Order: sequence, then C-alpha cells, then structure tokens
Amino acid sequence: MATHIPPIRKQNPYLPFGDQKGTRFYGQDILSVKQFNRDDLEYIFGVAHEMAGMVRRIGTFDLLKGKILANLFYEPSTRTSASFTAAMERLGGSVIPINEVRYSSVSKGESLPDTIRTLEAYADVIVLRHPEVGSAAMAAKYARKPIINAGDGIGEHPTQALLDLFTIQEEMGHIDGLTITMLGDLRNGRTVHSLSRLLTLFDVCINYVSPDILRMPAEIIGEINDKNIPQKEFSDLETILPESDVLYVTRVQKERFATPEEYESVKGCYVITREIMQKAKEEMIVMHPLPRVGEIEMELDDDPRAAYFRQVEYGLYVRMALLASVLGKA
Ligand code: NCD
Repeated sequence: MATHIPPIRKQNPYLPFGDQKGTRFYGQDILSVKQFNRDDLEYIFGVAHEMAGMVRRIGTFDLLKGKILANLFYEPSTRTSASFTAAMERLGGSVIPINEVRYSSVSKGESLPDTIRTLEAYADVIVLRHPEVGSAAMAAKYARKPIINAGDGIGEHPTQALLDLFTIQEEMGHIDGLTITMLGDLRNGRTVHSLSRLLTLFDVCINYVSPDILRMPAEIIGEINDKNIPQKEFSDLETILPESDVLYVTRVQKERFATPEEYESVKGCYVITREIMQKAKEEMIVMHPLPRVGEIEMELDDDPRAAYFRQVEYGLYVRMALLASVLGKA
C-alpha cells in the first residue's frame, strides 16, 4: 500500500521572534529581501556570528548531518554555488551539485517545475539560480521543500544582500546613519536591487552612480521613495565619494545586454584606483559582490578599506545561518 508522505513545508506558520526563535525560518523559502524585517536580520546575523565562531574553533560540525542540499544553477557561478556547498559541508550536510545544466535533463527540455519536483525527492532544500525574473518564486509554488533564490535574472539576489548587509554591520559596527554609494550597472545588477531594498529597513542615505543607460530601475527608486529613504543619482563618482561610508562597486553585466555595441559603449565606465581612493574617507569600505572585471584595480587590494574578499568570508557564515534556519536547526 502506498504511504502518503506529508509535505514538510507551507504548513509551518511563521513563528514570531521570542521563545521559538530557533524555528524562525523553518521550512520557509528565501525568495526576496522584501520578506525580512529588522528582527529577522538581527536573528540571521546573530546566528551567522555563532557560525563564524564555530568555524574558527572547530571548522566543520554536525548540525545538518544527514541533510542534503540540491544546488541547481542555470547560470554561471563561482562564489554563490561554492559558498552554499561550503556552508552545507561545514554544517555536516551534503550537496547534490547541478552546475552544468547542459549536461542534465534540462538540456532535454525538462521544465523547471519538473526538475524542482524531482530534486526535492532527493534533497531537503534547493538553492536555485536561473536567468528569469520570478523563477525562484515560481519554483517555490511547486516545491514542498524550501527554495533559496540564488539570483533570478536581473530580479533579486537576497542571500547576497544579506551577506552585504552583514559585511557592513561587521566592518562599520552599525548601519543606521551611513551613506551608501552604489556604482556601475545598476540597471542589471540584481545584487544592488536587493541591497537597496533591504537598506530601507535602516536610516541610511543611498547614492547611485551609473551611466545614463545603466540607471537604477524606476520601479526600485519608487519603492525606496515610498519608504522615505533619501536617494540621489549621479553620473560621476568624484562629487559623492568624499561623503560615502560604503562604496559598493558592481560589474557591467555583459550577459544582459541586447547588443555587443551597447555593452562596449559602457564597458570600463568606472575604475576604482588608488588615486581616486585618496578622496575617500579613511574609514570608508569598498565592497563588490565579485567577480570584478576591471572595475577595481588590483593595486587596491592591499588597502585596508578593500573589504571585498572579507565580504566573501562573511557570505559563508550568512549562508550557514540561512541553511540551519530553514532546516530548523539554528
Ligand atoms: C553576482 C551575481 O551573480 O549577481 N555575483 C555573485 O553572486 N557574487 C554579481 C555579478 O555577477 O556581477
């Protein structure tokens, strides 16, 4: 006789902060930064801190022993995919890596819902990167297990925004009161779409610096306006750099351009050099979600303000915190 296996998720209501905080995100999807409030961030960052301490003390431990993550990537990735793998393995769990979808059944024309429903039969949580905006939300409708959005086209990259914010918190000691300047491809960069939305939970000023064709989408500017966060747009960095506390640099997203000519017209539009950094505050930090393709000169890497490789490490702890939380073990 067939046994019915009940769904593990979508029947776990969101449990309020307090006594049951250990179960805060249990069974939940992580789809957009819009789902978080400040208490949530405090909780995630608290768990990330514990993870950092555990990794430094003992390296790998057994919190998620027996749990399996499916890492499903339809777009290239180094950091996001490797950091979710490292996070799962540091917690004692294991990973099904599907990075080259051209070698999987996706290349035979399998639909995303079918791939998701297959993988959730094997895994306890699915991390998904896909070129279409809304793909993670669509996958979550079909899935019984938690879906973590690792980038849906030019839409959102919520786990990156969480690690970006954790980096700011750790490096600057606070977020309220800061001026954050985002630079580069603000039209296509999903990391800045998520980060600017998440920053509306704080008392910050946001500056956008980009060429005209790569400006922050009007929809996002509108959302941030609705939250009464001061924001300004510029085409050159020099005027705004001296008053910035965080400079968040992004890559021009070559793969999102309609024509090579359009890309060529803005490629290399901003390059952060030692000389430019002389105009920045001594305690400003430079962040970048990476990969960089020339926007920050390598000669800057020795500058203590260059936080981008530290940002990568903070990402490991935040992703450990997220995995432990959605699997109910935080
Ligand atoms: C970013 C992405 O994929 O959106 N990379 C990342 O996840 N660290 C940024 C980028 O590709 O430029």
